[in-house]
Amino acid sequence: MIFSNRKKQPSGEVDLTRLPRHIAVIMDGNGRWAAKRALPRGAGHAAGAETFRRVATYCKDLGIDYLTAYAFSTENWKRPAQEVDGILNLLDKYLRESIESMERDHIRMRFLGDCSALPEKLRAFIARTDEISARYTGFQANICVNYGGRDEIVRAANLAAAAGEVTKENLEAHLWSAGIPDPDLIIRPSGELRLSNFLLWQSAYTELYFTDTLWPDFGPKEMELAILDYQRRNRRFGEIS
Ligand code: FPP
Repeated sequence: MIFSNRKKQPSGEVDLTRLPRHIAVIMDGNGRWAAKRALPRGAGHAAGAETFRRVATYCKDLGIDYLTAYAFSTENWKRPAQEVDGILNLLDKYLRESIESMERDHIRMRFLGDCSALPEKLRAFIARTDEISARYTGFQANICVNYGGRDEIVRAANLAAAAGEVTKENLEAHLWSAGIPDPDLIIRPSGELRLSNFLLWQSAYTELYFTDTLWPDFGPKEMELAILDYQRRNRRFGEIS
């Protein structure tokens, strides 16, 4: 299941009155995690999907409103067909399993990206999770699939132009993320220091957190460290204090 029913006591150290409202994660390092264990890359993605489940449960229990994960980029289609199929099958499996926990825990799930290119079976699950999500108002997991930040901005600009004037507000209303607050914190594990076409518009004032830990090893403890680091930051949004 994507979300377990385990209720984890939040650490006394995290200031629950100053939580990031929206955390986004780049699930990087699955391949290296598998290589270190002489396992196929698919085993790394499977472990990564399991990590997402644990981290999502932790965020939900802590009181985070939105968790967004970069699961499959527009560029990931260039990977070997076997790996692409493996990632899409994992998504399919986790969606199937998450429907029960969404209904039980009133969780919302939304997909950001061009889902029209996805296999029919996966699109049917996405339609079902959309239907369930419409009933609830609590924690929301966003999964970026066939997602690219530049494509998202170009698409939104064209839609805004077709509807009239292109303004920041009109463009935002046509992003895949329309209605979701900008991420307060973006986490990239695995030692890479870049955004890789992730949430380019939305990250204008986002705090960035990098760690060498590979995504499959990134558990609730690491998430707590990232939140504590975030809470030490001074967010100015271009102002002086
Ligand atoms: C990047 O690591 C990871 C991906 C391209 C795929 C991530 C997808 C999943 C974990 C599938 C399931 C998702 C959910 C939300 C259930 P990499 O392969 O680039 O790692 P490397 O840099 O070490 O090779």
